[in-house]
Amino acid sequence: MKVQYKPITDFIGAEITGVDLSRPIDADTYGRIRRIWLDHTMVLFRGQQAMTPDDHMAFSRLFGTLDHHTTTTKWNLPDHQKIAVVSNVKVKGEHIGAPKSGRAWHSDGQYTKYPCSASVLVAREVPPEKGDTLFANMYQVYDALPAETKQRIDGLEVVHSRVKAWPISYPDRPMLSEEEQAKLPDEIHPLVRTHPETGRRALYCGGNVGWEIVGMPFEEGHAFLKELRAFAIQPRFVYAHKWKVGDVILWDNRCTFHCATPFDEEQYRRVMHRIHISGDKPFFIPEGP
Ligand code: SIN
Repeated sequence: MKVQYKPITDFIGAEITGVDLSRPIDADTYGRIRRIWLDHTMVLFRGQQAMTPDDHMAFSRLFGTLDHHTTTTKWNLPDHQKIAVVSNVKVKGEHIGAPKSGRAWHSDGQYTKYPCSASVLVAREVPPEKGDTLFANMYQVYDALPAETKQRIDGLEVVHSRVKAWPISYPDRPMLSEEEQAKLPDEIHPLVRTHPETGRRALYCGGNVGWEIVGMPFEEGHAFLKELRAFAIQPRFVYAHKWKVGDVILWDNRCTFHCATPFDEEQYRRVMHRIHISGDKPFFIPEGP
C-alpha cells in the first residue's frame, strides 16, 4: 500500500490515503501510519465502508491491547465485545448503543489507572448534518499557556473521579449503582503529561472527571481545572470533524481532547463503533522535552 497524507488543519490531524483497512496492513504501512499519527495526534481514513468489525479489531490491535474499560458492557457489539457502539438507534424500544456518549470534552479512560493510549472510531451511519466530533491538540494547548501558568501547573496532580462527575457527564442517565461505583475508584494523574513516545508535554486536565488538584483547596482546584479546560477548547485549538459513512479516525488520547456534539435524534440515525486501546500510567518528566 502506498501511504500518503495531508494535514487536515495546521494544528491537528492528517488525512491518510492509499490504505485499505479491510486488508492486512504490512509492517511498513503500519510504521508510516504510526509516524503520521504521532506527529498529527489524530488521523483520518475515508471511504472504509468495507472494513468489518473483525478488520476494525485487527487494525486496532496493531496499536496495542484492546481495552475494555467502559462502565457497562451492554452496548458492546454482541459478537465483538471489544467494540463499543455509540448510537441513538433503538430496536424494540432498547438502545443498541450508548446514547449521547462523549458529549463533554474528555480523553478516553482518563479516570482509570491506565488510561487508553488510543481510540479508533468508525462511522457506520451518520446524520446528514451535525453530530460532528471535536478534537483539540493538547500539546499545542500546553505550548500556548503563559509561562507563569506552565510553571504553576508543571508537576501538579489531578484527582479524576468518574463517580463524582457522573451526574454532570450523563444528566440523562441514572446514577451509577453502588456496585458500579465500587469499580471506579478515583485516580490521580499529572496535570501535565509527558508523552511516552514523543517526549512532548500535553495538558491533561481531564474533562468533567478532572475533579480537584492534589494539595489545593477543593474550590480553588476545581475552578482552576475548569479555567484550564475553557482555555483548551478555544476555537483556535479545535477541529470539528464532519463525519461521512466509512470514515475511520484514530486519535492519541495522551495528547488530544475530544467531544461528541448533538444532532437531530428524532429524525436521524447515528451509529459509531469504537475501540479503546490500553495505555500506561501517565507521568510527568520535570526536565524539558
Ligand atoms: C467518544 O467520545 O468516544 C464518542 C465520540 C463520538 O461519538 O463522536
